[in-house]
Amino acid sequence: MTFSLPRFQRLASLSQVGLVLTFVSVFLMSTSIYGQVPPANEDESLVVMGQLPDPLVGRDGHLIADRTAWPKQREYLLELIGENEYGFAPSQPANVAWKVVEQGWMFDGKTKRTQMVVTLSTEASELNIDFVLFSPAQVKTAKGCFLGLNFQGNHTVDKDPALRIPTSWVANSKETGITDHRATAQMRGAQDTRWPIQEINERGYAVATAYYGDIDPDFDDGFKNGVHGLFPQHQASAEHPSRWGTIAGWAWGMSRLLDVLVQLPEIESTRIAAIGHSRLGKTALWAGANDNRFSIVISNNSGCGGAALERRNFGETVARINTYFPHWFCPNFKKYNQNETALPFDQHALIASIAPRPVYISSATKDLWADPKGEYLSGWYATPVYKLLGFKGLPSETPPVADTSVGDRIGYHNRTGNHDILSFDWQQFMNFADRHWK
Ligand code: GCU
Repeated sequence: MTFSLPRFQRLASLSQVGLVLTFVSVFLMSTSIYGQVPPANEDESLVVMGQLPDPLVGRDGHLIADRTAWPKQREYLLELIGENEYGFAPSQPANVAWKVVEQGWMFDGKTKRTQMVVTLSTEASELNIDFVLFSPAQVKTAKGCFLGLNFQGNHTVDKDPALRIPTSWVANSKETGITDHRATAQMRGAQDTRWPIQEINERGYAVATAYYGDIDPDFDDGFKNGVHGLFPQHQASAEHPSRWGTIAGWAWGMSRLLDVLVQLPEIESTRIAAIGHSRLGKTALWAGANDNRFSIVISNNSGCGGAALERRNFGETVARINTYFPHWFCPNFKKYNQNETALPFDQHALIASIAPRPVYISSATKDLWADPKGEYLSGWYATPVYKLLGFKGLPSETPPVADTSVGDRIGYHNRTGNHDILSFDWQQFMNFADRHWK
């Protein structure tokens, strides 16, 4: 999928435009615009969802009656979702090369750590991504592999001192003590509860990760940095209604990492899952929906713009996410601010577009911002698509009690606790993978 550029060529000086936009958005953030976004609703009795578009209704308005029509229908859904929500990644290829820069053992020799630098290049530019694979050392090929991006750098997923520290942009925050957008050694292992590497390897699975900021920095940079910078011809299209947003950029980056993984001897190329938490859960869904090589897709606490149904307007809403994170989606998505019923799809279509591959959705009971019920229901309303293809999805319209994993080809659980990804979640994902990769 691609988009045309000339109309936008006049935006030549994007660095200046970007700077002005940053000031304007900071100003707006601190003043009136938030006042215009209605307060978030977290009261189930106030939810009025209305009719959801049927993901089995095709381009011509007719219902898809048999499974042979599904591949075309899936393409149609991806087009609708790309056009109106995430935007389209460029159709031009990038060259993908990698080299191993470090290798070692962890957890009493049970884990093999392979650190690589993946280089994406186009005629215009080059981007290096630090990529690390943790594979079970005792087997030649892992049972399967989970690929997910991390939020703070590869050195934060474990305390291991060999893990490389990113040199790309990181967010400043009080919590991390980072003030100059540079990663620090103090953060080693800071996110290790989210990455139970030893446990994953003990169950025979490999896990691979890269820092999301290496792929694209998480701010509105006028389309200059990260993967967007590989295609400077697209800088002039920053305002194009369906140009790729940052989530589409991260998702495209996941596919480039997959290009590498499928060639490694430690990995069974047909058993690689896309996984992600929160904004990276939204990313895993979009990556998995587009790239059939991901044989399982896992969304943890992905909420608005992820697994949660937008029409429920529960917790985070389209207007809020577009206001606070204007760079994540394509400009078209803003048309649906406080206007979700006009969306020609809802997020169950995103789940359905993964069919017939297995997909797992997980929520957390206290994570009302991400709308656990809405996350469940998108799986439920995607179930008829799986059924048409001869598979079982979720068992009932009623979400299960907390801490119980349900479903067949679509899996779901709602963990007791906060917005996070923890060992309990990984255990359910691995049980799900055990079932589908047996
Ligand atoms: C914010 C945002 C969510 C997002 C989350 C995260 O809470 O509103 O949409 O999922 O950040 O990525 O941590």
